[in-house]
Amino acid sequence: MEDMLNIALPKGRLGEKVYGMFESAGFPCPSVLESSRKLIFENPAAGVRYFWVKPSDVAIYVERGAADVGVAGKDILAEYEPDVYELLDLGLGRCRMAVAAKKGFRDDRLRTLRVATKFANTAKRYYASRGRDIDIIHLNGSIEIAPILGLSDVIVDIVETGTTLRENDLEVYEEIFPISARLIANKAGFMFKGDRISALFDGLSSQLTGII
Ligand code: PRP
Repeated sequence: MEDMLNIALPKGRLGEKVYGMFESAGFPCPSVLESSRKLIFENPAAGVRYFWVKPSDVAIYVERGAADVGVAGKDILAEYEPDVYELLDLGLGRCRMAVAAKKGFRDDRLRTLRVATKFANTAKRYYASRGRDIDIIHLNGSIEIAPILGLSDVIVDIVETGTTLRENDLEVYEEIFPISARLIANKAGFMFKGDRISALFDGLSSQLTGII
């Protein structure tokens, strides 16, 4: 069916909560939650096709039109600045982007600051706005190890509960911005499937009353 609404969900616990909201918004596809290795699910009666993708890939599917809508974290949207519409803050997956360092860290502004991160663009933008020279060390995970081993002075990373920092003797040094899950839409899809996307927007918005 050509006017199927294609929805990219972030794989994992957040994605299951997101699906629950989409179902309540009138876009059901119960097979989505069946535990299997299957990645694509359709409910022709409701005109929806869902697929599970890596959370950091949702924006790529939506930007290129493989998905009409999807849900992506503000961390990813800020880092990659995909050319999509950001329609709604779903209030899920709340955490923050922060600079963290070893306890007692003092920034010596006479030296280039070594910053380990997965979020290189975010870190560059943040320090450029403060006029601070930095050297980016781009890592893919376990960022917290970098300052402990002397690979970097600080990290720029996501902090949710703070447990990872605490257990590695690090602490938040500066907050950069709050993060939560956002409904995003492909720009062309938004024109051609505007009615369906509006219905989804309304169905999701009505669930947020009192939450945000
Ligand atoms: C994120 C982040 C921190 C951790 C923070 O990692 O990079 O390591 O969560 O959460 P906390 O404050 O509740 O401890 P994620 O689990 O997404 O995996 P990663 O190792 O791929 O970064």
